[in-house]
Amino acid sequence: MEYDVKDLKLAPKGKIRIEWADSMMPVLRLIRERFSREKPLKGVRIGACLHVTSETANLVRTLKEGGAEVRLCASNPLSTQDEVAASLVKDFSISVFARRGEDRKSYYEHIRSVLRMRPHLTMDDGADLVSTVHSERQDLTAEIKGGTEETTTGVIRLRSMAKEGVLKYPIIAVNDADTKHLFDNRYGTGQSTIDGIIRATNVLLAGSVFVVCGYGWCGRGIAMRARGMGAKVIVCEVDPLKALEATMDGYLVMPLRKACPLGDIFVTSTGDRDVIRGEHFELMKNGAIIANAGHFNVEINLEDLERMSVKKRKIRESIQEFTLRDGKKINLLGEGRLVNLAAAEGHPSLVMDMSFANQALCCEYLVKEGESLKSEVYRVPRDIDSQVARLKLKSMGIEIDNLTEEQREYLSSWKTGT
Ligand code: ADE
Repeated sequence: MEYDVKDLKLAPKGKIRIEWADSMMPVLRLIRERFSREKPLKGVRIGACLHVTSETANLVRTLKEGGAEVRLCASNPLSTQDEVAASLVKDFSISVFARRGEDRKSYYEHIRSVLRMRPHLTMDDGADLVSTVHSERQDLTAEIKGGTEETTTGVIRLRSMAKEGVLKYPIIAVNDADTKHLFDNRYGTGQSTIDGIIRATNVLLAGSVFVVCGYGWCGRGIAMRARGMGAKVIVCEVDPLKALEATMDGYLVMPLRKACPLGDIFVTSTGDRDVIRGEHFELMKNGAIIANAGHFNVEINLEDLERMSVKKRKIRESIQEFTLRDGKKINLLGEGRLVNLAAAEGHPSLVMDMSFANQALCCEYLVKEGESLKSEVYRVPRDIDSQVARLKLKSMGIEIDNLTEEQREYLSSWKTGT
């Protein structure tokens, strides 16, 4: 079996971590039990490019239990949990190609190693796997039935490929399932981003001025949780509708250049590049903390920061302190990569349970229906989304009401009015 992980001796620690996560992923476990009986993925080769965490480990175990052969590489150079990667190889016989802190060259080598298995399905988080298929391995597309995409940034890239007519196989946008983005992006990113900032810095949030750039589902979660910790939250947006929502949700809304002299902590979650750049560093306070929660490390312009600095030093595990020419210090967390995975453990298992239940069920769907789909980006089928919600509620011991026959009829008729 081919693999490339840091150290197989880390496996026992990884296994315990995987089991701990599994204890908080009941929906995925139910799916795994069914997959184990029914083997819906028998003979299917799945190439996955995901953050290599204990939650992902439970997803790939589930796919394997369903009969698939799986290869896994990282979707970010700084998010791999090396002990989890080791345990997947040693305890679960899954080919993993991921080392925390790998450079760009090795990151792409690992993607190529996954593609050497000639996958039938691709599973992506950020679309680096799909874009490598299209730029380097078009020969594989004849065999690929379809793929799934986990994150907003990846879905945007894939929609742009579909629009240009270059996408060669169907993709299901798992991110767009309600049971994914309303929970993972909002509550998952909300909690884990705050967790990453606190683990990196031990900063007191109460009373601080916390600036959130971007008020999508992730930004909303971050703003909500920062406020919950007692921070005074400022939201910066470019979309008038989202800016209006942020205002009526009770946040101060202003352009970033106005927020710069006020902020103690800045977090980007926009999906776009150069959100915080030279002109903003100029205006920030001494000691400002900056972090990114978006998928790629492009949201904070690091070239500007390097160019404007006379000194740089590592002052804690996930903090680089930059000293600007006037002596002002700016603290960058997690090298500008996703702070929740670079400085903490990513989203909690309980929320990844729903995201990855969608992933597993969409793989099963692609095996059954892939042939009938076009090379487009598809939504998750509504019954998969509802099934995940139902199972999650059940696992939480929550019952809900059912419509009476009369109510059902009333909702489907137009005759009764005033
Ligand atoms: N993305 C965000 N958090 C994650 C986690 N814990 N595992 C995998 N992918 C993630």
